[in-house]
Amino acid sequence: MNAREFSLTADEMRASGHDAVELVVRFLESLRELPAFELASHEELSSLVGTISEHGRPISEVLQEASEKILRYRVRPSHPRFFAFVPGVGNYAGALADFLAHGQNVFTGSWMEASGPTMVEMQLIDWLRDVIGFPVEAGGVFVSGGSIANLTALAVARDTILGEDGLSRGVVYMSDQTHSSVERALRLIGFARRQIRKLASGDDFRIPVDHLRECIDRDRAEGLRPCCVVANAGTTNTGAVDPLRSLALLCRQSGMWLHVDGAYGAAAALCDEGRAALDGLDQADSVALDPHKWMFQPFACGCVLVRKGALLPRTFHMRPEYLEDVGGSGEINFWDYGPELTRPFRALKLWVSLQVFGVSGCRDAIEHGFHLSRVAEDALRAMPDWEIRTPAQMGIVTFRYAPAGMSEEQISDVNRETGLRFSHGGHGFVVSTALKGRTVLRMCTINPQSTEDDVRETLAMLNSIATQL
Ligand SMILES: Cc1ncc(COP(=O)(O)O)c(C=O)c1O
Repeated sequence: MNAREFSLTADEMRASGHDAVELVVRFLESLRELPAFELASHEELSSLVGTISEHGRPISEVLQEASEKILRYRVRPSHPRFFAFVPGVGNYAGALADFLAHGQNVFTGSWMEASGPTMVEMQLIDWLRDVIGFPVEAGGVFVSGGSIANLTALAVARDTILGEDGLSRGVVYMSDQTHSSVERALRLIGFARRQIRKLASGDDFRIPVDHLRECIDRDRAEGLRPCCVVANAGTTNTGAVDPLRSLALLCRQSGMWLHVDGAYGAAAALCDEGRAALDGLDQADSVALDPHKWMFQPFACGCVLVRKGALLPRTFHMRPEYLEDVGGSGEINFWDYGPELTRPFRALKLWVSLQVFGVSGCRDAIEHGFHLSRVAEDALRAMPDWEIRTPAQMGIVTFRYAPAGMSEEQISDVNRETGLRFSHGGHGFVVSTALKGRTVLRMCTINPQSTEDDVRETLAMLNSIATQL
């Protein structure tokens, strides 16, 4: 090790690289037997984490410690019985691609500085464009995830529809099922809370188009400027897909922008069932789609696609004097397509994964998620005192234990407690959410390594906890 140069010797790099691979492979081999969740107290962790080293120490010791003492205490979102939120499945090929890119510290801001990486990102943007059915003039950019994808698209929508001076009168519409990152993004790009309309969703948890039209007309009559509808292509709660085709028509007739948050669900367009469920997605003005969700990439792999790709640089292009020499190649500079200048090579993990497993591998894995949610629904229908709140939809099913005679309040408490006890037990991870004020449990079954038995066992355990509470 040469501490002053912040570098390891070649032998140390090789040996520690083997150590790191061994740690990850051992983890992946034993994942099914590991708890899906381990938690330590603040005090325990502060002693486990230790102090920051002044003079450095051997890397193999540090990696071992990181794995055993730090990475151990967390949820394991790739665990086959982790069914909460959106499981973060990841994949080893993608992780190695990240290592390759970070090992060489690739900067992916401009064509001149990264023509190879830029070409890969362009190829994948074109591929994702075709997956969702956007026209050839569509463009996009890889970002850290759905939150920044939504932010990026909404900034373009703001500039395109409202221009420089129209922001104060602009109004954005969405349903109460829309992910919180959308409201946060709108606040960040300058919309006040009073400019954000969250409409009550219907019984199917989709935005009611007639009511939306009335709201738009009312706002316009009051001198406001309805500018954007944010629709869902798979809500986080239930997997509901808003009526995208009707919304696209409404937006086109009203001079508004349709942004579709498909961070979770848009990837399902890769398979027939998903494409049918996402009817109208191709009519949007912009779409957020996260490969780190239903395309099984390690975290920090999101993507935003814009129907008229040329609008992205209209919002984000900057050319300071210190970038003059490297910015004028005439090719795409991805730093002009989003909020980041220094960008890691996020697209490589998706490219490597697709090369290794093939598009068909990804498609089959997505279809498995649809199938498992139906397995969950069928199992629940056979369980006395359990009700399905929303049937299997885009890989998500919501349900609750609701025996006759139990009050709504008791039902909420029992279901929340059931999820928590199950998750703290470590066998898997399931948490509650609320739908129209009612607490439900929820399973998102997109992990291709989850089996039918994992789903059934999880439900059996939830049943045994709930009935004993
Ligand atoms: C529908 C939806 N949109 C946006 C997000 C935010 O994505 P990220 O956490 O990658 O920023 C999520 C996260 O689960 C989501 O489910």
